[in-house]
Amino acid sequence: MIPYKHEAFTDFSKEENKKAIQEGYKVVESYLGEEYPLVIGGERITTEDKIVSYNPANKSEVVGSTSKATKELAAKAMDVADKTFNTWKKVKPEVRADVLFKAAAIMRRRKFEFSALLSKEAGKTWVEADVEAAEAIDFLEYYGRQMLSLKNGQPVESRPGEYNQYNYIPLGVAVVISPWNFPFAIMAGTTVAAMVAGNTVLLKPASTTPVVAYKFVEVLEQAGMPAGVVNFIPGSGAEVGDFLVDHPRTRLISFTGSRDVGLRIFERASKLSEGQIWIKRVIAEMGGKDTIVVDKEADLELAAQSIVKSAFGFSGQKCSACSRAVVVEDVYDQVLARVEELTKALSVGKPDSDEHFVGPVIDGAAYKKIMEYIEIGKGEGRLVAGGNGDDSKGFFIEPTVIADLDPKARIMQEEIFGPVVGFAKAKDFDHALEIANNTEYGLTGAVITNNRMNQEKAREDFHVGNLYFNRGCTGAIVGYQPFGGFNMSGTDSKAGGPDYIQLHMQAKTTSEML
Ligand code: NAD
Ligand code: ALA
Repeated sequence: MIPYKHEAFTDFSKEENKKAIQEGYKVVESYLGEEYPLVIGGERITTEDKIVSYNPANKSEVVGSTSKATKELAAKAMDVADKTFNTWKKVKPEVRADVLFKAAAIMRRRKFEFSALLSKEAGKTWVEADVEAAEAIDFLEYYGRQMLSLKNGQPVESRPGEYNQYNYIPLGVAVVISPWNFPFAIMAGTTVAAMVAGNTVLLKPASTTPVVAYKFVEVLEQAGMPAGVVNFIPGSGAEVGDFLVDHPRTRLISFTGSRDVGLRIFERASKLSEGQIWIKRVIAEMGGKDTIVVDKEADLELAAQSIVKSAFGFSGQKCSACSRAVVVEDVYDQVLARVEELTKALSVGKPDSDEHFVGPVIDGAAYKKIMEYIEIGKGEGRLVAGGNGDDSKGFFIEPTVIADLDPKARIMQEEIFGPVVGFAKAKDFDHALEIANNTEYGLTGAVITNNRMNQEKAREDFHVGNLYFNRGCTGAIVGYQPFGGFNMSGTDSKAGGPDYIQLHMQAKTTSEML
C-alpha cells in the first residue's frame, strides 16, 4: 500500500489545466438539468416532488433535480439499511477499504468534472472547487488506510494463561446529514467513514446541492459497493431529518451543519423512541466565528493577506472562514488599511473562469441574511470596504470589511456565513486573546506573530480545535490538520484525523483462558 499523501492542488496558470477544467464544464453541461432518483437498496425510485438545484451564479440555470424522499421512503430506506448491515458488517475491512480506494481512483480520473460541477452547483471558483475535489479524494484514501490500520484492533496486555483482545465492531445504521458548503468533500468523507467502518448509511445531502451527492453515490456503486450499503435519500431536513434522527433503528448520526440544527439533533437523539435498545451516538460538527489575531510584532503584509484570503475565499462560506480580525492597537490602522486595499482590489463575478476571486453566495435566503448583517454592521461599526450586493442574475455580494467594532457586537459574535469580516482593536496581545475567546464557538483561529512567547501563550490559551500560526485559518488538509471544533462548534470529532474512524465503531474486549 502506497503511504497516504494528500492530493496535489491544480495550478490553473498552466494552459493544460485550464483546458482540463473547461473539458470538465463540457461534461457537466452535457447533463445539466437532468433528474436523479433516490437510491434505496440499489433500486432507483422516482417521486413526483422534486428538489431543484440551481446555479447560484446564474439563478435561471437548473443544475439538476432529484426526487424527494418522504417519511415512508425514509422508513423503507431504513429497513433496507438495517437488513444490509447484517451482511456488510461481515465483509472484511480490507474489502470495504478497497471500495474506497477504487472510488478514489475514479474520482481522481473525473476530478475536473467534479470541480466543474462544484462550480456550477455551489458557486465555487476553480481554485476552491479543486481544493474540495482533492479533499474528497483525500478522505477516501485516508479513511481506507485508517480502517486497515484498525482491522486487528489495538494491543492490550494479557497475563500468563490468558489471551486478551481488543477489537472494533461497527455500530449499525448511520444517518449522514451533510451541508451545502462542502457538498462533495464533507458529504463523501462523512459517508465513507461510516461505511468503511462496517455501518450502512442513509445519506441525506443538503437540498441546495444534491446533484454532486448523487454522482458520488454512482461512483461508489462503480467501485463495487453492494446495494443497500449507502442509500441516497435527499429530502426536507425538518421532515426526513427529524424522522431519521428519531428512528429507533438509527444507531449513529453524523451531522455537519449549523449550530441550531446540530443542537436540535443532539436533543432529539437523546430521547428514547419505542423499541430503541441503545444510546444513539451523535457526531455533530457545527458553526464557527473564527478569528485571526494580529500581534504588534508581526509580518503585517502576511497578516493582511491571511485575513483577506481566509475571510473571502468561497465568499466567506466556510465554517473555518475568518469573520473576525482582532488586531493589537499599535498596528491596527496599518493592518486595516492594507486589508481595505486588498479587499477593494478583489473582483466579484461568475466562478466559471479564473477571472474572479469571489463568486456568489449559495441562494436567495443566504443573500438576504448576509445583506441584513451588513446593515447591522454599518450601525455597529464603520464600513470600510464593500457593502453592496447584486441578486439580479446570481447572488453576488462584495467582500465587506467593517471596522472599529465592539468585541461584543453582533457582527463579532454571530455566524454570518458570507463575505463579511469585522475588525476590533485590542490593547495588547493578552487582550487580543481574550477577545478571540469571547464567542460561544471554538472552531478555527490564527495568530500572526513573530513573538515566540506570545505564540506559546496562544497555543495554550486560544481555545479552538484548529489553531494556525502565521497563516490563514482555512484550508485544513486531511491527515495533516485534522479538523473539528470546541464548544458550540461541535463534538470535536476531528475529520481527517487518526481517531475519527473509531467514532463510527464500538470496541469489544474478549478474554480467553488458555
Ligand atoms: P444546516 O444546518 O442548515 O443544514 C445542514 C444539513 O442539515 C442539511 O442537509 C439540512 O437539510 C439538514 N437539516 C436541516 N434541518 C434538519 C433537521 N431538523 N433534522 C435533520 N437534519 C436537518 O447547515 P448548512 O446551511 O447546510 O451549512 C452551513 C453550516 O454548516 C454553517 O453553520 C457552517 O459553519 C456549518 N459547517 C460546519 C462544518 C464543521 O466541520 N464544523 C463544516 C461545514 C459547515
Ligand atoms: N476543512 C475546511 C477548512 O479547513 C472547512 O477550511
